[in-house]
Formats: sequence, C-alpha cells, structure tokens
Amino acid sequence: MRTKLAAGNWKMNGTGRDLGVLTELARRHTQPGCEILICPPVSLLHRAAQTVQGTSISVGGQDCHAARSGAHTGDISAEMLADAGARSVILGHSERREDHAETNAHVRDKVRAALAAGLVSIVCVGETKDQRLANETLSVVADQLAGSIPDQVTGDTLVVAYEPIWAIGTGLVPTVEQIAEVHGFIRAQLHDRFGAQTGSQIRLLYGGSVKPDNAAAIFAVPDVDGALVGGASLSADDFSPIVSALEGSA
Ligand code: 13P
Repeated sequence: MRTKLAAGNWKMNGTGRDLGVLTELARRHTQPGCEILICPPVSLLHRAAQTVQGTSISVGGQDCHAARSGAHTGDISAEMLADAGARSVILGHSERREDHAETNAHVRDKVRAALAAGLVSIVCVGETKDQRLANETLSVVADQLAGSIPDQVTGDTLVVAYEPIWAIGTGLVPTVEQIAEVHGFIRAQLHDRFGAQTGSQIRLLYGGSVKPDNAAAIFAVPDVDGALVGGASLSADDFSPIVSALEGSA
C-alpha cells in the first residue's frame, strides 16, 4: 500500500505572516489519513519546520544544488535543506526547467544530492500544450523519467509528480482519462526500469490546477497517489478540503 501524499508547493510566495496556514492545517488535520507536506520558499523553511514540529505536517524544499557545498552564490544544497528541517525536495519543476534551463541531467544530479542528504525527491515531469497537441506527451514523459531519475532511487526516496505544463496555474485540467493514461504509463515505465516491487512502491502525484472542487475526481483515478498543489496550497481553506478529499479516496 502506498501512503497518499498531499503536497503543497508555495513557489515564490509567502512571508512570515503566512506561517499561520501551517498552524491551521495542523489544527484541522491532527490525525490525517495521508501524508501532508508543505514546500515553502527557502526563506521560511526553518521557521516552517519549527512551526510544524510535533504535528502531522512535514516541510520540504523546492530545489537544491547538485553539489554538496562550494562557490555557488545564491544556491542551496540538499544538506542545508535537511539541516533547516526539510524531509523532501521538489526537483525538476517545469518552472525551474524553464526559468533556469534545468535539463534532465541536472535534475538527475540533484536527485543524487538529495539521496545523499537523506531527502525524498519529488521529481516533476510533464508536457507543454504543443507537445500534447502533437501527440508527444508519452514520449516526452518517458524521456524526462529516463533522464531525470538516477538508478539508486527506491520507493521510499522517490515520488514522481505528473504536472502537465499547460495545466499549471491556468485552471485547465486534463480529463480523468488523460490523467489515467499518463499515470498508467509512468507506472509501467517505473516497473520496467526498477522492477515490480520498487516500481509499485513509488508514489505518483498529479499536479496542475488541483482545487477543492476537482480533487475528489482526480484522486479517484487509478495510480494517482496524491497531488502537488500550487495556488490552492497557499490557504488552509483551499488546501484542507483537498487533504480531506485525498483521505476519503479509496
Ligand atoms: P497550481 O496548482 O497553481 O496549478 O500549480 C501546480 C504546480 O505547479 C505545483 O507544483
């Protein structure tokens, strides 16, 4: 059985006054039927970790550098994230691939760094609108999976998030059939590469315009083990019903 995961990606949003969202989530979900993770900006990570200490919520980073330390002004290492209280890190998000020209090889090296620091990697894959229209979704996702994930991962250290780029922050959501197709494909790819046991332990999240009103339908799709939520994770009133929908899913 895979533990379901409701993950929030705050992206470049949030200052100290937003830490109350974490307190409120912890108050509403004292014994959650799923894992709850919030990835705040790195400026808040340590305070966020302190805020959720002793609660059901964990915190994570949104990126890390591939190197352990060194002359990389403005960057942060996986070990530093762990030291600040992170248990996980999002890697290869499409906004990083786009804004920082991150390639699959960069992402793979970051996953190796996260493994070395004891962090769970949440590796993001997903196609652009043009790629979907050109029927390239599965080949793009296959390339990203093959290139971004190192051989050493296990079901405990890797989570894959399918985030169609055209669905991020747009209010557009793939049909449940489209989500089922890609998640089934990712599961099959993981089986082929890592064997049946590890392949069936790795959790698969859907991300892209997940909201309280569409969460239950998305969570009913086979091989959807949770969500990576952007905008709706910034408020407890929006994120909490998504957590509840996940808890209530089969
Ligand atoms: P939205 O939920 O705002 O569409 O963002 C999704 C996302 O990119 C999460 O990583």
